[in-house]
Amino acid sequence: MSTVIKGGTIVTADLTYKADILIEGDTIARIGPDLSGDTVLDASGCYVMPGGIDPHVHLEMPFMGTYSTDDFESGTRAALAGGTTMVVDFCLPNPDQSLLEALSMWDNKSGRAHCDYSYHMAITWWGEQVFDEMATVVREKGINTFKHFMAYKGALMVQDDEMFASFQRCAELGAMPLVHAENGDVVADLSAKLLSAGNSGPEAHAYSRPPQVEGEATNRAIMIADMAGVPLYVVHTSCEESHEAIRRARQQGKRVYGEPLIQHLTLDESEYFDKDWDHAARRVMSPPFRNKAHQDSLWAGLASGSLQVVATDHCAFTTQQKRTGVGDFTKIPNGTGGLEDRLPMLWTHGVNTGRLTMNEFVAVTSTNIAKILNIYPKKGAVLAGADADLVVWDPEKEKTISAKSQQSAIDYNVFEGKSVKGLPRFTLSRGRVSVTDGEMTSREGHGRFVRREPYTAVNKALSTWKELTAPRKVERTGIPASGV
Ligand code: URP
Ligand code: ZN
Ligand code: ZN
Ligand code: ZN
Repeated sequence: MSTVIKGGTIVTADLTYKADILIEGDTIARIGPDLSGDTVLDASGCYVMPGGIDPHVHLEMPFMGTYSTDDFESGTRAALAGGTTMVVDFCLPNPDQSLLEALSMWDNKSGRAHCDYSYHMAITWWGEQVFDEMATVVREKGINTFKHFMAYKGALMVQDDEMFASFQRCAELGAMPLVHAENGDVVADLSAKLLSAGNSGPEAHAYSRPPQVEGEATNRAIMIADMAGVPLYVVHTSCEESHEAIRRARQQGKRVYGEPLIQHLTLDESEYFDKDWDHAARRVMSPPFRNKAHQDSLWAGLASGSLQVVATDHCAFTTQQKRTGVGDFTKIPNGTGGLEDRLPMLWTHGVNTGRLTMNEFVAVTSTNIAKILNIYPKKGAVLAGADADLVVWDPEKEKTISAKSQQSAIDYNVFEGKSVKGLPRFTLSRGRVSVTDGEMTSREGHGRFVRREPYTAVNKALSTWKELTAPRKVERTGIPASGV
């Protein structure tokens, strides 16, 4: 059985042109004019783009004494509804737990996925076992990225010496470190001070994590990565201070990537001042939402190329779960949803406003991250031979975002009431039509794990350069006699 997408305009990261797409099985077989197939999908008036890739999600994540409510089933269903066809989750070993054992726990959860997925491995503790298992994770398990939390003191946080050791190990293995860049020591101290001063509401979460804690940690991670000779990916870049550090590093030739979230691009800190406790707590995440000046910085970074990827950090907790933090903001589970809304919100606030071109939209939602993660052009491309992960995008279709009609399993939506213009007409996951005008036809368990090989071109170039410029012993001719 073949499928043809007819009458649309293909939009990729670098081209816009009219053509049909023939899909056979999981992959794109041909692209050209006047193609025919067994099933025809009408794409007239639509843009046909690579499906979104969200490189930052936490599905059924064990965190802050609970589990995030969207799991691989509801989370990937939400992804497809919004035009995203691949997600990357974070495998989080417990302290002293084997990385491989943690991976098998993640494999048990991900079998229900509706779309393709991969994992980043988190370095949550350090020791010889972790050092050794990192090689197996890369070479046998198909994971080429390792996440480091510089925040969440007493839980996921790692120290600088551990980070430097892990970054060097990543360099040896051709892998790439990721960082959650916030100074966890300062956050812990500020949080304690705020609480003891009687500041216990959700707004104090934002006060405890000012942009400086993010800027400092981003810069520190960048310098540590540079000394380790490894590229670096900074997740959820939310402010000018962090963006500035990334921008400066890139201008110096350092291989650093920055990932703003759709939440930080479109929601601001005023959410935390809402009189309704639930409203504010539902928006508690780290880093917190910032002001308009920071948002402008992030948008400018996407347009200029100093920031490369828009993600969600989808980590959805119910109102009931959020209420664990009534009376103590440090106990509010950190995280917000966004999987279903990332593409429509970015299109509406980016493409429709002229802040992004359509091609830039494809680059930051799909193609750039496919290249960074070394899965391009299997993913992130509209090319013969690529996986048929596609979204047929109707730029005229509108809706008002509401929890009532969402796929996510939680009871609210941080974008509630926002109007979007630009939505999927069809979403295809490896050739399977999974969404038709908002109606789900995806299949639980259809998703497959996507292997990611190490030694990207950037890893290789950087290690060549680091080798060439490494410190070298000076061979001397005249050695003075000792002791004189
Ligand atoms: O608040 C957040 N971002 N929760 C998810 C975990 C993380 O830090 O990414
Ligand atoms: Zn984080
Ligand atoms: Zn509200
Ligand atoms: Zn996260």
